[in-house]
Amino acid sequence: MTEAPVLGIETSCDETAAAVVQGGGILSNVIFSQTEHSLYGGVVPELASRNHVRKIVPVVQESLDSAGCGLADLGGIAVTRGPGLVGCLLVGVSFAKGLVMTSGLPLFGVHHIEGHLFAGRLEDPGLIPPFMALVTSGGHTQLLYVRDWGQYEVWGDTRDDAAGEAFDKVAKMLDILEEGETTMGGPRISALAEEGNPEAFAFPRGLMNTPGYEFSFSGVKTSVLYHLKGCTGAQIASQKPDIAASFQAAVVDVLVHKTISAAKAAKTSRVLLTGGVAANKRLRKQMASSGRDHGISVTFPSPRLCTDNAAMIASAGAYHLARGERSGLDLNAVPRMELPGLVLKNTP
Ligand code: KG4
Ligand code: ZN
Repeated sequence: MTEAPVLGIETSCDETAAAVVQGGGILSNVIFSQTEHSLYGGVVPELASRNHVRKIVPVVQESLDSAGCGLADLGGIAVTRGPGLVGCLLVGVSFAKGLVMTSGLPLFGVHHIEGHLFAGRLEDPGLIPPFMALVTSGGHTQLLYVRDWGQYEVWGDTRDDAAGEAFDKVAKMLDILEEGETTMGGPRISALAEEGNPEAFAFPRGLMNTPGYEFSFSGVKTSVLYHLKGCTGAQIASQKPDIAASFQAAVVDVLVHKTISAAKAAKTSRVLLTGGVAANKRLRKQMASSGRDHGISVTFPSPRLCTDNAAMIASAGAYHLARGERSGLDLNAVPRMELPGLVLKNTP
């Protein structure tokens, strides 16, 4: 089947992204990451939305140019409608609606988490539901049982911090972020951990042995904080790689244990690992190895598709548009938004 290309637009946080996908293939994938937020220690919503306004035109133009498409070649436009920062989402949604008004193309508003799920389909077109998905990023840590595309069961969520948030906060405590970085804690910790001993410190594995599939990462973060408070400057300097490795091991152990247990309970032999933290090398390795031990195959998108991007939004949008689903010009940004197609909301 030849499908027309779909343009995806993602502006839910501090990345301005646009991509074109066609029939499961990526024709272009452009991401502009904002950096000035580091001056303030975190993403400043107002600054982020102003940057989106500045970057949306060149980023969308570049994605069309490198895909070799004009608006007339497209079959539709997909845009992230939520969840996220409302001012940021509004830039993408308004821009997409403007394009739709001038081109007459069909529009579909995508849920950001559903986008992360479709990153798995872009990576492996053979990823066919049902499967268990761990969506782990800076804002979310969820175990979702994908009954079918568009039909989701929430098995577990985090009670407090998301896993990526814990990586970012611990990186800040260890003072290993470089200038211009706010959400690079994961990659920085992962790199430092390569030189450290993951068994040097026994940081807590929150809720690991509690029945159910909920997560909690504030305990491990606080435990690192108290450990640092008890050290001299010289001790901290020499222990940093061990602390990074031990913290990472604690988070990864919990994510792997809960995900594989959930897959077994759901009697599925497939797991998808997606979202920014899914780019973590130790997590990918340990999930694949534990999966092998239990006869479960694990799919993880390439790192560029794990972190926020618009190709995943275009892929989810293409799926819904192909089914004749459409958003109207009354499409609005929804900062707190439940996943559409939820068929079960409580942990079994
Ligand atoms: O999916 P994403 O780009 O944005 C959200 O939707 O939140 O995820 C960003 C998060 C950040 O917290 C970042 O530290 C984390 O993903 N991350 C990683 C790695 N790469 C990105 N965490 C651990 N290891 C990594 N290699
Ligand atoms: Zn995300």
